Amino acid sequence: MTMTIYEARDYQDMSKKAANIIAAQIIMKPDAVLGLATGSTPVGAYENLVEGYKKGDLDFSKVTSVNLDEYKGLSGDNDQSYRYFMNTNLFDHVNINKERTFVPNGLEEDSQKACSAYNEIIESVGGIDLQLLGIGGNGHIGFNEPDEVFHAGTHCVDLTESTIQANARFFASMDEVPKQAYTMGIQNIMGAKKILLVASGEGKAKALYDSIYGPITPKVPASVLQLHNDVVIVADEAALSLIKEKGEC
Ligand code: F6R
Repeated sequence: MTMTIYEARDYQDMSKKAANIIAAQIIMKPDAVLGLATGSTPVGAYENLVEGYKKGDLDFSKVTSVNLDEYKGLSGDNDQSYRYFMNTNLFDHVNINKERTFVPNGLEEDSQKACSAYNEIIESVGGIDLQLLGIGGNGHIGFNEPDEVFHAGTHCVDLTESTIQANARFFASMDEVPKQAYTMGIQNIMGAKKILLVASGEGKAKALYDSIYGPITPKVPASVLQLHNDVVIVADEAALSLIKEKGEC
């Protein structure tokens, strides 16, 4: 295992450091395949990448991207979809070829079809060079929630009742709230050559500690990263607080 932990002062610093690593990947390999994540944590890193592009330091024209996950039943036009998130936070602001940006097809009703098509896409682009990950407060990565087993490939997950309830406020009616999502599995994620995990805030401190120093278990999905040979973690002081308290870094 090679796991490097970079401590950032705060969210801004974390975002800059994470963006620098992604930028370095694009500069080293202009046709890199980036595995991308949504959620609040990477937003600042995407802002820094857009800035780098606007300054003329970054060229996305040959980059391919594959996203971790998407809600089943949502179209890319829906402002709650992860496709919409990626367009508005990154793709619309850089010179990436949108046809080379992949997100699981939320409108495919046949889960098996949607998942095998996505596995094939990941394979056909030659695998992932750099996978960006956030982490859930419970240690989830992508939509791989704590479970009894690790799920290998792209699969369909039932969202928990609390996630459905939390999302309800963004939709006109309960019927429209997604109940399922498609997500890359552990094999897809672990197949990436390099993994960059970003974490910010105290809410992530326990998950981060357990993922790095706890046993490898599907009950803490991110703990599987201990088996990867090239993981970089960029986390702010609050997210690293428990690790520091226990004297691990
Ligand atoms: C996003 C994703 C999720 C998030 C995680 C953290 O595509 O797959 O695993 O990375 O839920 O979310 P935030 O960054 O909002 O705390």
